[in-house]
This record gives sequence, structure tokens and C-alpha cells, in this order.
Amino acid sequence: MKTEQLATKIFTGFLKFKVRRPTPLFASYNVTSRCNMKCSFCDWWKMNMPELPTRKALTSIDEVCSLGVPFFDLSGGEPLLRKDLAILAKRASSHGCLVSMNTNGTLLKSSRASEIANAFDVVVVSLDGPEEVHDKLRGVGGTYDKAIEAIKLLKAYGTRVGVNTVVTPWNIKILPHFIEELRSLVDFAQVQPVHPYPPPPQNRPSPEEVSRLLDYLLRLKRSSPGFLAVPTDFVRGFKPFFEGEAPKICHAGELYVAIDPIGRLLACPARADVVLGDVLAHSAGEILKEKRKSEGWLKVSSCEGCWLGCTVGMSMVLENPLKEAPNFISLWASRKN
Ligand SMILES: C[S@@+](CC[C@H](N)C(=O)[O-])C[C@H]1O[C@@H](n2cnc3c(N)ncnc32)[C@H](O)[C@@H]1O
Repeated sequence: MKTEQLATKIFTGFLKFKVRRPTPLFASYNVTSRCNMKCSFCDWWKMNMPELPTRKALTSIDEVCSLGVPFFDLSGGEPLLRKDLAILAKRASSHGCLVSMNTNGTLLKSSRASEIANAFDVVVVSLDGPEEVHDKLRGVGGTYDKAIEAIKLLKAYGTRVGVNTVVTPWNIKILPHFIEELRSLVDFAQVQPVHPYPPPPQNRPSPEEVSRLLDYLLRLKRSSPGFLAVPTDFVRGFKPFFEGEAPKICHAGELYVAIDPIGRLLACPARADVVLGDVLAHSAGEILKEKRKSEGWLKVSSCEGCWLGCTVGMSMVLENPLKEAPNFISLWASRKN
């Protein structure tokens, strides 16, 4: 039953996109701004935002899922800091969504692993390199070991587990070797360049370093298209991204939306300032209908762009679904019935 529901949502979303009446296919809910890490490239842990209590969080999930979204991601901050996380994930799942989480993995105790494994179809753990590199970038010692432990725990419960790696000048050289080592540990790997965009000079690896990484990633994509779970053109875009010349590919508010910790609907998961409305006060459908008139929408229009798998990658897959079929099939196979 759930498989058919998901298939219908994806197919309907695809058709609506093709006839230029898009509805969101991906929603992310940043359930908290709290984080137990101090990643050098991330600003979330510097925020201090309240968050919705369980009942209101469930209402906001219902609202956004009522748009017919097939892919629903829970992120943060660190989502595992919320004790009701499994309840929230199950609610999204009850709407027939494929439910994923992005986590640093460090707070997954064995006593909680079964509950989390049952609630999520896919878990993406952040890993930015081998131990010394990862712990340095995350700002806390022991992070790598705990993330690996979380991966093993979830895998033992049969959860589909992937890794998200942020490409920076501080890890780019070791990434081919690192990603090769991950192949025996996880089901898939995602990579994304360090933001913001355009990148400031200190965030830009040398052109030679970028070329070497791209050669490796494109070879990996050809040999194991499902393992490297980002579109081929997304990988190719790393070069113009780091040169500050990436095209703007954006369907914010159309193919993707986000809910922030206090229940506001955002057009884009990466732009906390692009508020479209309050899903606790108005229906998500109504908010989106009005979106073009809102100040928030104008802010997305003036954005210079980004190169994130959850937004740009989603747009690319929708533009060229046959080319990206292996990613879809691999994600599809990840569903638990
Ligand atoms: C903001 S975190 C929240 C989830 C969780 N705390 C974690 O570390 O996975 C979501 C993802 O965004 C990535 N990320 C954080 N800052 C980034 C940046 N400046 N550029 C690109 N990715 C970033 C993280 O590595 C992580 O994989």
C-alpha cells in the first residue's frame, strides 16, 4: 500500500512539473536549531531558536505532507537531540512519504537504535573524512568513532544508511581514498561543496585539486551509479561552483520547501530568511498559492544560487529522470514496506 502511495506521489509530482504546475517533491523539517557539534563551516549551532512542542510539530508535518510530498527529511541542528524524533518521523511516514534523516550520528545510543531504525527509511550520517580530518572539522574529538558506531548500529537493524560528505579545501585531497573505504560500510555516498555560494577565497580548493576529485567521482558514478547518490551533472558542477561561475538552478517553493524549528514554511531549506508563511496558522497549500506575492519569495529570486544535493540535485533529477534512474532505483530499493 505505501509503495503504491509513494509511486503515485512521485509520478503525480513529475507530471505536474512537466506541465509547469509544480508541487513540492521534497520537504525538509529542521526540527531543532540545537546542535552538539561546532562544525567550522556550519552556522546552525550558533543559532538560538525555540522549537515546536510535539503536538504542533505533528501539525506542521501534516500540513506539509498534505501537499503530496513524497520525500520528507528531518534535519536540524542535530535532530537526535529531540526525544520525540521517532514520533515525528512516523507521522510523516503515515502520509506515505519516504522519510530520511540527516544526522552527525554521535547521539545514537544502542538503546535508541531500534526505535530510530523503525521510524526512518533512510539515514544519512555526516562524515567529512577519516578520524583526524572529521573530528577537526566537526570541532569535537571522538565524533568520527561515534558516527561509525551509529552507522553500524543502524545497518544491523536493516536501515539503509548513507554518508554525506562536505567537500572543503581541508579534506579534498583525501576524499577519493576516503570514499573508497566507505564502500564496504554504507549503502550510498553523497557529496556537496562547502557553502556559501559564491565561495569566499578561503573555501576554494585549487583547480588541480577540484579536477582530481571530479575525475575520481565521475569514474565512480560510471562504475557504481547507485552508490554515488547525486546526479552526474551535479558532480560536474563542482568546478564552476568553486570558481564562482555555477549556473543558478532553483525551484525553491516549487519542487522543495522546508519547515523551520518554529513552524514557518520556507521556500528553500538553505535560506532561513525566506519565510513564506506559518503552517500552524494557514494551510501550506494556501501559503504556496500566495507565495509569489510575498516578500520571502522575492528574496529567493535575488539569491545568487547554491549547489546543494537536496535542491539543485532534485531539480536535475526531475529535469532528466531517465539519466538519473539509477539514483531513483537505489532510493526506491531503500524503502521498507
Ligand atoms: C546542517 S547539518 C544538520 C544535520 C546534522 N547535525 C549533521 O551534522 O548531519 C545537515 C548537513 O549539512 C551539511 N553542512 C553543514 N554546513 C554546510 C556548509 N556550509 N556547506 C555544505 N554543507 C553543510 C552537514 O555536514 C550535514 O551533512
